[in-house]
Formats: sequence, C-alpha cells, structure tokens
Amino acid sequence: MESKPLELSVIFLFWLSLVVGSPASVRNLPKAENVSWISHNFKTILTWGPRPVNYTYTVEFSRQATALTECDLTNEMDIKGVYLAEVLSEPLRGMRFDQVEFPYTRSKTFCPYNDTLIGRPHFKLTVNEKKKVVLNIQDPITALHKDGKSLTIRDVFKKNLKYKIAYNKAGSTGRKTLVVDESKAEFNRLDEDQSYCFSVAAFIPSRKGDKRLGDWSLPKCSAQGHKSPFDEYGLAVIGGAVLILLVLVVAIIILIVLWCKRVQRLKTITKETTV
Ligand SMILES: *[C@@H]1O[C@H](CO)[C@@H](O)[C@H](O)[C@H]1NC(C)=O
Ligand SMILES: *[C@@H]1O[C@H](CO)[C@@H](O)[C@H](O)[C@H]1NC(C)=O
Ligand SMILES: *[C@@H]1O[C@H](CO)[C@@H](O)[C@H](O)[C@H]1NC(C)=O
Repeated sequence: MESKPLELSVIFLFWLSLVVGSPASVRNLPKAENVSWISHNFKTILTWGPRPVNYTYTVEFSRQATALTECDLTNEMDIKGVYLAEVLSEPLRGMRFDQVEFPYTRSKTFCPYNDTLIGRPHFKLTVNEKKKVVLNIQDPITALHKDGKSLTIRDVFKKNLKYKIAYNKAGSTGRKTLVVDESKAEFNRLDEDQSYCFSVAAFIPSRKGDKRLGDWSLPKCSAQGHKSPFDEYGLAVIGGAVLILLVLVVAIIILIVLWCKRVQRLKTITKETTV
C-alpha cells in the first residue's frame, strides 16, 4: 500500500492535546471513535472523537487502489483515487507506553469522485418567446482548482453529470420527473395557462445507490399564463365593478339633467325680467 498525503481538496482536522503531563506510564490509550469522512462538493474533512486528554492523535492517509494506468497525478485523476485513513492514539512525548502498537481506528474507504455529496444547484426560470418554460441550471462550484480557477461539477463529471428535474402544477400533488444531460431544459408540453413549480438536483448515474442524487434545490414556480378576466378575478368582482360603473353613469346623467333644468330656469327668469 502506497502512503501519500491527500491533495489540495482535503482538509485534515487534528485534535491535539494541550495538557502537559509529567512523564508517566500509560497502559490504555483510548481508540478513536466514529472516524468518518464529511465531503461536500469535493471539500473533504475527516472527523473523529473523543477529545484527547494526555495523548495525541496521528492520522495516516493512504491511497488504497487506483484505476490509473499511468502516473500522472493531476487534479482530476486524484479525485478518482480511493483513500483510507487510520487515526492512531499516541502518548505525549516523554510518556512511556507499554504496548508494542499504538491503538488505531480505520476509516471506511473514500473516493471523492464517487462519494462527495453534491450540494443544491441554483437555477433560473424564464419563459421564452414561444411561451415555453426554460430552466438554466448553474453547475455548483467545487472546492477543486485548476490553473487558478475553481472547477464546477460539470468540469469534474463532464458527461456523467445529468440533472434531475421534478415538477408539478401549482396546487397539485402529481409530481413528474425528467432527467436532462445538459445544464438547460426546455418544457414544450406544459399547459400554458397553468403555473408550474420546479426543483433541480444533480444526478450522476455512474455512482451507486443514494450517492447518485445531489441535494434538491429550493422550488421555483412559473407565472400563470394569460387568462380571461373571468378566470383571473371571478364573477363577483366583475359584477361589483359593473355595478359601480352603472351607478356612476346614472349619477352623471342625473347631474346633467339637473344642471340643464337649472340653466333653463335661469333663462326664463332672465326673459321675464327683460320683458
Ligand atoms: C493527565 O495527566 C495528568 C498529569 O499526569 C494527571 O494528573 C491527569 O489525571 C491525567 N488526566 C487523565 C484524564 O488521565
Ligand atoms: C460516536 O457516535 C455515537 C453515536 O452517534 C455516540 O454515541 C458517541 O458518543 C460518539 N463517540 C465520540 C467519541 O464522539
Ligand atoms: C465509482 O463507482 C462505480 C460504481 O460503483 C465504480 O464502477 C467505479 O469503479 C468507482 N470509481 C472509483 C474510482 O472507485
């Protein structure tokens, strides 16, 4: 087994004891527990417990197996490696330890390419000139870099990256799903008059089991299409509006009639006085 440190993307977490004990002999050092990988968009941390008192931990990483046929360890090839960690409990300097081997705990194997969790993608929902809903998905950024630039999950997974889109009519529970190869999707067969809600998750079919699907995005809904005023506002509101209009028209007619009568009366009075 070849021993080598993990690259850039892996951050190690060490818990070191600050207690300075006098030289003494230790019989039983606690073993590390719950040694586990936490990995999100290729940012990887190894964690364990308990917090050490009067001893320290040392972590050894090894690359267990590799699918490489050549020894060019670029960023991309590294993430396809399979790694294993051992967390050793060691006595503080100056302490005597009676056993031959330090106690250690092994992690499960970890392959960044197959095991890192993919976070929720963001996406933009637009309606094109043909009134079709279009989703533009932003590939999540990873913790990996190449030539000073952050890599997206599309840079890493390339054609292995698909997106799963779940959608339903607003207010309905009938959910449909669709898998798309690209970071864009156009919906041609939606009911134009309806509002639909969409969620998106990264989908990597080359992985196993529940590692295939990333986190789901928050849902976004399309606006309701063009509707007749009756659908939009309902009969009562429109009836009310018509009634108010009628009352206004009647009031204006009454005012005009009253005004005309007054003008006429003024005229007759003027006539009477001049005669
Ligand atoms: C740690 O070492 C100090 C000094 O030897 C000792 O007093 C203390 O009890 C030890 N603590 C534990 C938890 O073993
Ligand atoms: C390890 O995990 C178990 C179960 O979650 C928990 O009960 C235990 O306290 C953990 N041990 C340490 C040292 O964190
Ligand atoms: C990733 O998982 C797939 C499916 O289980 C497997 O065929 C492949 O060898 C794994 N890749 C690595 C680098 O372990």
